[in-house]
Amino acid sequence: MASESTLAGRGVELASGPSMRDTFGKIMTDIYDPDRNPNGIVNIGTAENYEMLTEVADRFRDGIRYHSGEFNYGEGPWGSRRLRTAMAKFMERNLKSIHPIDPEKILFASGCTAIFEMLGFALADPGEGLLVSRPCYAAFQDDFELKAKMKCVFVSFGDIDQFSPAAVDCYEKALIEAHRNGTKVRALMLCNPHNPLGRCYPRETIIGLMKLCAKYSVHLLSDEIYALSVFPVDESNGKTEAFESVLSFDTTPYLDSNYLHAVYGMSKDLASGGLRMGCIYTQNDALMRALCAMSKFHWSGTADERLATEMLEDETWLEQFNRTSRARLARSSKVAREALHRAGVAYSKGSNAGFFLWIDLRPWLPKVKGGDKWASEMALWEQLMQNKVFMTPGRGQQAEEPGYFRLIFSQPEHVIKVGMQRVKKTLDQIEKKKRESKI
Ligand SMILES: Cc1ncc(COP(=O)(O)O)c(C=O)c1O
Repeated sequence: MASESTLAGRGVELASGPSMRDTFGKIMTDIYDPDRNPNGIVNIGTAENYEMLTEVADRFRDGIRYHSGEFNYGEGPWGSRRLRTAMAKFMERNLKSIHPIDPEKILFASGCTAIFEMLGFALADPGEGLLVSRPCYAAFQDDFELKAKMKCVFVSFGDIDQFSPAAVDCYEKALIEAHRNGTKVRALMLCNPHNPLGRCYPRETIIGLMKLCAKYSVHLLSDEIYALSVFPVDESNGKTEAFESVLSFDTTPYLDSNYLHAVYGMSKDLASGGLRMGCIYTQNDALMRALCAMSKFHWSGTADERLATEMLEDETWLEQFNRTSRARLARSSKVAREALHRAGVAYSKGSNAGFFLWIDLRPWLPKVKGGDKWASEMALWEQLMQNKVFMTPGRGQQAEEPGYFRLIFSQPEHVIKVGMQRVKKTLDQIEKKKRESKI
């Protein structure tokens, strides 16, 4: 007898959907290590600042003297005044805010992921829309849809450069189309620097998007989690753009400050994904109250808050850390680009930020009987995994067409090299099979 589920409808829906544990869990417990696990999976798919992890650990090598107030509930889930003051100063220095940042307008939670979920809940009713450019950071969809039940409206650009001011029209078209189909757009996600394209938005485009948001009373969410991971690249990588935070210029002529929210976190630039520290800076008092009402569900530990505070307050260490991080990202991006050249793999140009390259594996999409090109992309991903190398396929990142993958280069050189050898091996196997099938 088929047993009925013990779960409610929404539990059944969650249990029958994709599980992060199935993929992420498998990869993270079988990670390649040249000595301890040479046959493990080379992870050039998960975006972490791997080369800087040791520096963070070293910062706390001599331990830290906690006091009793760091093992109770502290000052509440939104973050201690000391932590928020440290972040305000960090934003003033590093995001180059033109106005002083008021710590009372900052709220912390257990990662930007948590901030997004709360934003989805507070800014939209179920079924209302979030404009997101394609391709995008894969988790945006889950962050806003899974529990908050927003609907992502993905914006396509075709041949238009999505970083150019001309791209603003594409957002407007997508918004109008969504409204026509009954989805009211409530917010627009600006991921700057962009994941997965690794590019920064010129100010004119940001202003264009602000004006669009003002026209339709849409909130602009600026995810600046890679703000400091911007580095010099050689000319072979095309024309690049410097990073400009939405806090760094006077936005009042373009968008009411109640509609502009900046999100930052310590997972990327500060190589501390496991600390679970993300925050929002917003001048919208009602939004702040709504977030405070929910943030107890996304509370970072008070002991972890202390670690974050120590890092943010140590300006000398931070400056050196960031200099080293940028230099290593510049070097490893070059190593990856050279390996891609040797393998004959194209990648999108103009990237000078983040930990990733958007690579074009369309020429190697294998034929899948009865399947479309997305099935081919999945088959290619599976073949890569068989050869023990993990990269994120384009589909989950809402790529406009199949065959693109996000390659993470923020790894030590030997890891990138082994990863690329395995990518090349996979591509060679596919080419061989194609040749044989023609005989
Ligand atoms: C663009 C972007 N935003 C947010 C996040 C999630 O950050 P957190 O670790 O603070 O939840 C990531 C992580 O990959 C990201 O790439």
